[in-house]
Amino acid sequence: MEKLRVGVVGIGFIGAAHVEALRRLGYVDVVAVADQSGGAKRAEAVFVEHGYDDYREMIEKENLDAVHICTPNNTHYEMAMYAMEHGLSVMVEKPFTMTVEQAESLCAYAKEHNIVTAVNHSLRMNPQVQQMKAMVRSGEVGKIYAVTGSYLQDWLFLESDWSWRLDPKLSGKTRAFSDIGTHWIDMVEDIIGERAVELLAEFDIMHKTRKKPKKEVATFSGMALRPEDYEDVPIETEDWCSILFRFENGAIGSLNVSQVTAGRKNQQIISISGSKCALHWDSEDSQELWIGRRETFNQKAPKDPSILSDEAQKVIGYPGGHVEGFPDTFKMQFSKFYQAVREKDTSRKEFANFENGLREMILNEKVYESAQKRAWVKI
Ligand SMILES: NC(=O)c1ccc[n+]([C@@H]2O[C@H](COP(=O)([O-])OP(=O)(O)OC[C@H]3O[C@@H](n4cnc5c(N)ncnc54)[C@H](O)[C@@H]3O)[C@@H](O)[C@H]2O)c1
Repeated sequence: MEKLRVGVVGIGFIGAAHVEALRRLGYVDVVAVADQSGGAKRAEAVFVEHGYDDYREMIEKENLDAVHICTPNNTHYEMAMYAMEHGLSVMVEKPFTMTVEQAESLCAYAKEHNIVTAVNHSLRMNPQVQQMKAMVRSGEVGKIYAVTGSYLQDWLFLESDWSWRLDPKLSGKTRAFSDIGTHWIDMVEDIIGERAVELLAEFDIMHKTRKKPKKEVATFSGMALRPEDYEDVPIETEDWCSILFRFENGAIGSLNVSQVTAGRKNQQIISISGSKCALHWDSEDSQELWIGRRETFNQKAPKDPSILSDEAQKVIGYPGGHVEGFPDTFKMQFSKFYQAVREKDTSRKEFANFENGLREMILNEKVYESAQKRAWVKI
C-alpha cells in the first residue's frame, strides 16, 4: 500500500504531538516539517528527514498529500489557503482562524475544490465523550435540561507566565475562550446535536499587566525569571471567561474557562442533566463516565470497548483497564481524517472540519461581543 506523504508546519508543543500521533497510523509518512525558527534543527529533533524554514518551500518541493498547520493562530489562514491552492488536504490546529471572514473564505475554497479538511478538536475522540454522544443520541438520557461544565488550566497563573497567546496580534481578541473554551463547546454541540442560539459572556483579566521575557520562552515551560529578564506589558485578553448558553431545544448551558486556576493543569468537565438520567465526565478521571439515576443506584462506566457503545468502541485502541488519553485522541482524530483523505470523502462528520472551524469562529466572535456589551447576544 502506498503511504500518504504528510508535512507538518510548526514543531513546537503540539506540532511534535502531531508527528508522534501520525507515526502511530502506519500508513502515513511524515516526510518533512517546516518551522521558521529553524526547520533543519526541528526536523532533526523529531527524526524527520527534511526540514524547511519556509512552509511554502516544503509544500512546493515535497509532493505532499496533506499538511498539518501547528503554528500560532494568526498564521493559520494564509497557510491553509496556500496548502489548498496546491491541492493538499489540510488539518489546521484550533482556533481555526483569527476572524469569521477568514474562516468563511477557507470554507468556500475547500467546498468549491472538494478538499478534505479538519480542525483539530481531537478531544471529541475521547471514548467517554463518544459514549455521552451515543447515550444522548439514542434517547437514553431523555430530554436535555442542561449542560454545565468547565475547562480549567493553571499555566498562566503567575504574572511572570508568558506565551505568544497573550499577544492578541498572534492569538486573536479572545484568549481563554478561543484557546480552550472552544474545545468544550465543540464537544458539547457534537454530543447533544444541538447548537447554542444565544449566549451571555463575562470576561476577567486577573493579571492586568504581565512580565514578558526579553527572550523567547517555550509554551508551558514554567521558566523562572529575574527582574532584568522581562518587561511589564499590559494584557488585553481574558484569563477567565464565564458563559451562559441557551441551546436550540431550549436547554440551558453554563461554562467556566480559566487559565489561572492553581493546580488544574488541563481539566475539562461536562455534566449533562437529562429527563431520564444525568451524565458527568471529568478529564482528570477520564476513563470513567458517571451516570446518575433517581429511581435506582448510580453507575460508573469504565472505558472498556466490550461494554461501551459502538461509537465509543471506534475510538478505543486498547482493552478495558489500559488507560488511554490525550495522545490517543490525536491518533483517533488523524485516523478518521486520513480515511477521508484516502477516499477523497468530504462528507464525513465524525471529526471537526472547516465548517466546524467556521462555527468556532462565529462563537468566538459572539462571546467577545457579549463580553464587551455585557449582554445576551443571539448567535
Ligand atoms: N488541539 C490541541 O489540543 C492544541 C494544544 C496546544 C496548542 N494548540 C494549537 O496549536 C497551535 C500551536 O500551538 P503550540 O502550543 O504548539 O505553540 P508553540 O509556540 O509551542 O509552537 C509553535 C511553533 O510554530 C513555529 N512558527 C511560528 N510561526 C511560524 C511560521 N510563520 N512558519 C513556520 N513556523 C512557525 C514556532 O517557531 C514554533 O516552533 C496554536 O494554534 C494552538 O492554539 C492546539
